[in-house]
Amino acid sequence: MFKKLAIGAAVALGLTAPAATYAAGAGGHVEDFSFSFEGPFGTYDQNQLQRGLQIYTEVCSACHGMKFVPIRTLADEGGPHLPEDQVRAYAEQNFEVFDAELDDFRPAKPVDHFPANTSAGAPDLSLMAKARAGFHGPYGTGINQFFKGIGGPEYIASILTGYTGEEKEEAGTLFYENHAFPGGWIAMAPPLSDELVEFADGHDNSVHHMAQDVAAFLMWAAEPKMMARKQAGLVGVLFLVILAALLYLTNKKIWAPIKGKRFQV
Ligand code: HEC
Repeated sequence: MFKKLAIGAAVALGLTAPAATYAAGAGGHVEDFSFSFEGPFGTYDQNQLQRGLQIYTEVCSACHGMKFVPIRTLADEGGPHLPEDQVRAYAEQNFEVFDAELDDFRPAKPVDHFPANTSAGAPDLSLMAKARAGFHGPYGTGINQFFKGIGGPEYIASILTGYTGEEKEEAGTLFYENHAFPGGWIAMAPPLSDELVEFADGHDNSVHHMAQDVAAFLMWAAEPKMMARKQAGLVGVLFLVILAALLYLTNKKIWAPIKGKRFQV
């Protein structure tokens, strides 16, 4: 009985899970990239988020919108944490929004959201990293999310690195073979190529690295308060540990006279 329980517990904890991969949807092969924000103490890497923002702006925003994310949050601590004046300049230089009061387009301001992009038939990326987070792990316990990350950013990075180079045309649309995309063929041409984006600090701009940078950025976009949530959770757990210890000691003390007697008799 005990042996069975122990094995069950080990399996549930993912100790015996053999492959470091996810199975996303119907047959997509998602690699287990490691991100700085994984685990109970993980935090976003500010420089990585800034690189991801640059990649999103220069490459992905041509087709994908991010309409739920306010531009001003780029200044948030725990996020890309850009200085306020840089955020203002970024908004003005990169995006135009339609202002109903002016009845015209004007340069974006930090209070605006990233624009939606409806022209290219590409899905909005605001929540993609959470929408594609799989509930993985043995028996659907979701334990993998705890040990290996939630799966969404891994999925995005896998899509960006998963192209095989094969193409096919169907009903006038070009499809590109991709290991990670469920079904194996995606209508998005490979958006990244080595050295496509130049980083100011000369950081590695291979497809493999850029895929992770932009995936991390999209995770932040989908869950900007992850750090605060983890901190609150940690404080909660610490509080419960201390409370449990105090209750244990109180309990011992209250029962001491009665329990003590039994041994004296
Ligand atoms: C030329 C336009 C274009 C560019 C540039 C582009 N995408 Fe896409 N993307 C698309 C289209 C179209 C789809 C829908 C593909 C489909 O459903 O087959 C898509 C789909 C996706 C998906 C969704 C897969 C899913 O599960 O539905 C992700 C994630 C994605 N793109 C990420 C990115 C990232 C990150 C970048 C920037 C590095 C980027 N895309 C650049 C056009 C583009």
